[in-house]
Amino acid sequence: MGTGSGYGKVILFGEHFVVFGLPAIASAIADRTIAEVTLSSEHRGPSAGPAPGTFVLRGAGWTLHDERPATPGYKSEKAEEQRKSIDLMLAFLKVDTRRTPLDIRLGGNLKAASGVGASAASCAAITRALSALLKLNLSDAQVNEVAHEGEKGYHGTPSGIDDTAATYGGLFMFRKAQPKNIVELIRTEKPLEIVMGNTGLTASTTEVVAAVKERKNKEPQMFDKLFLEAERLVMDSRNALEAGDIDRIGGLMNLNHRLLQDIGVSNEKLETLVGIAIKEGAPGAKLTGTGKGGYMVALTPGKDLQEKVSRAMENAGFATLKTSIGGRM
Ligand code: MEV
Repeated sequence: MGTGSGYGKVILFGEHFVVFGLPAIASAIADRTIAEVTLSSEHRGPSAGPAPGTFVLRGAGWTLHDERPATPGYKSEKAEEQRKSIDLMLAFLKVDTRRTPLDIRLGGNLKAASGVGASAASCAAITRALSALLKLNLSDAQVNEVAHEGEKGYHGTPSGIDDTAATYGGLFMFRKAQPKNIVELIRTEKPLEIVMGNTGLTASTTEVVAAVKERKNKEPQMFDKLFLEAERLVMDSRNALEAGDIDRIGGLMNLNHRLLQDIGVSNEKLETLVGIAIKEGAPGAKLTGTGKGGYMVALTPGKDLQEKVSRAMENAGFATLKTSIGGRM
């Protein structure tokens, strides 16, 4: 059996703009997806059948047993994309599953949901598990390359920020570039607590990214202005993170949320969650990732504020994830 893991992520600044080559800042989170891959021929003896709640997906020469915790409906909505993603990774690695059928098991504590890098985490985890099983000895850079290929199954034009976080972990500034993406680690003096609020809605990254592109084509001048603001904001955010300037980081998150509203990727539930966070005293809050559902992120320095914000969101009926970014991740 081969096993491997991949981190979930939170985009702190610059999602969507990053697809167009602008810089963005993301951090891996401690929650991870773990994959186990076995040769189907290795299964002997009576089968216990899938554990209750397991989502089973079959492809050409492989079977996926998905035991990840999940937002209801996420796995079935993403099934076709996940099938494409696994096929793309197997083809990239030239694994002939007709000769060596595989069983893939996904678990770990990262919720399968929009906005936390669940697809990229599963791609990195499966790649590492395949590398271990088939003795491919892939380096982290190669794992990232394969995971990026897998991400194309979920949306045709991933910027690469999610698979980079899933593969390497850490807090970093990212810019898509040829021949190599630019990734610069960001150091913060201490970890910063955050709360991620889950709308419970699954978003299609393909559709949301396409809608942003369409809007950009219709309103090029507005987007030129937004791009300038977004780039400046990311540079300021990097400085604020390195200086540990909480108020400034929070203020920039709020500004970033407004830019995301302007490009049309927020929705009512995200606005409700951002509103709760700010009312409870978070210095900044914004949607994170694709938007139109998924998660938002609130900056909540200190365990007390983190608890207060998370409790208020849960009292309003939303699931939350409490974690931290920066420091020694
Ligand atoms: C999705 O987590 C982030 C987006 O910027 C898409 C991408 O970077 O590929 C919306």
